[in-house]
Amino acid sequence: MSKTDDLDLSRSRQLHARARRVMPGGVNASARYDPALEQPIFMERGQGAYVYDVDCHRYIDYNMSHGASLLGHGHPAVVAAVQEVLAKGILCAYETEIQVEVAEELLRLFPGHDLVRFTGSGTEATWHALRIARAYTGRMGVAKFEGHYHGVNDTVGFSCRPRLELAGEPTAPRPVPDSAGIPPENATRVTVLPFNDAAAVERLLRENGRLIAALIMEPINYDAQGLRPTPEFLRLVRDLTREMGIVLIFDEVLCGFRVRPGSAVADMGVTPDMTVLGKAVGGGLPLSVIMGRGDIMNACTPVGPALQSGTYNAHLMQVVGARAFLQEATKPEFYAHLNALGERLYSGMREIFDRRDIVAWVQGIGARFGLLFGLSEEPRNYRDTMRQDMGMMARFHLACLKRGVYLHHFSPHHGYSIAHTMADIEETLDVMDQAAQEIVR
Ligand SMILES: Cc1ncc(COP(=O)(O)O)c(C=O)c1O
Repeated sequence: MSKTDDLDLSRSRQLHARARRVMPGGVNASARYDPALEQPIFMERGQGAYVYDVDCHRYIDYNMSHGASLLGHGHPAVVAAVQEVLAKGILCAYETEIQVEVAEELLRLFPGHDLVRFTGSGTEATWHALRIARAYTGRMGVAKFEGHYHGVNDTVGFSCRPRLELAGEPTAPRPVPDSAGIPPENATRVTVLPFNDAAAVERLLRENGRLIAALIMEPINYDAQGLRPTPEFLRLVRDLTREMGIVLIFDEVLCGFRVRPGSAVADMGVTPDMTVLGKAVGGGLPLSVIMGRGDIMNACTPVGPALQSGTYNAHLMQVVGARAFLQEATKPEFYAHLNALGERLYSGMREIFDRRDIVAWVQGIGARFGLLFGLSEEPRNYRDTMRQDMGMMARFHLACLKRGVYLHHFSPHHGYSIAHTMADIEETLDVMDQAAQEIVR
């Protein structure tokens, strides 16, 4: 019997044994290996709000392909789009009219941006955006916030989840590499900033700013459980970067479209110089977006000196996915439904934890949320989140899993899709109530 006692994952375990012989660790993405189960769960398929594993369990999915499936699994509009490209050559990696149409729509939804390039993954988009910013400014340094994630990226692959004993003072964080194999000299070009600390950010940017090409940030830091900037902090970041000629890049790979059609922080009135998008915007197909002010984006080849190209840039599959997604996400009922689900889910979770005497903070922002056990107030930076009880988190995730609710193990963020119904949310809350009861027992 597996570690889940009464959840039989034996077929998954057999597949993992086989996979281990042909893939490192038996997985294709390390985040899919569940250390608590000592195996990944092999899924058979996704449909709407649900995923079905190879051992015949159905889960209400709160991972949703790490946020990429905001339309749910296999949305009919995306299925129709894929069918359309089957008749048009499938990949057909050339310039097409659909690219122009999607670019125009994105520029309408992200005011202050003039030009767009498409690529494949979030990692590629942040990587290209940083190169473009370096080419534009002629500077080689980058700045980032502690706790923010920008993909598997050697340039800013620092201090996403650093161990605190290595991370330096809270007001002057040290760059800690997120992986082995990142050239140590890259650390000399990275300035790590503490999120929501205006005085420290101003001091660090004034010290190093003239060497910094770009400051990249998650405007809503879902990768540290949904940290929000205060509006004053975000404005200060904008003012300082503008004053110092630093390109401000919003990495909205995860937070874009999560709250409204467009930027997650559109209400704060701050416009970056560049934005990168990924995940949801492709409707579940692998598309990412680099966009920005015209003078900056024109640093791209063939107009400017920064080589930007790629076999798979804007191939048909990607852009039809984005066109379908944008058509859905701009319908008035889309965010009305998402927000109604969120209100019920987040208030229901808070009520459960209160009633069960569990100290937990539900950080629900739009269609994605963080859940921090052991915290009774809103965290403002990565170090605040480090006070959470990870053991309780793991027990809660497992207790939900065996009752048919999939919260991705140890993930800093969870979320639902437009395919979830109010009945799914009620079923989830029932499960969470039982799971909460189990973990305090
Ligand atoms: C904010 C952010 N940026 C970039 C990435 C990298 O995207 P991808 O996994 O598509 O390379 C992620 C992925 O989780 C992300 O959350």
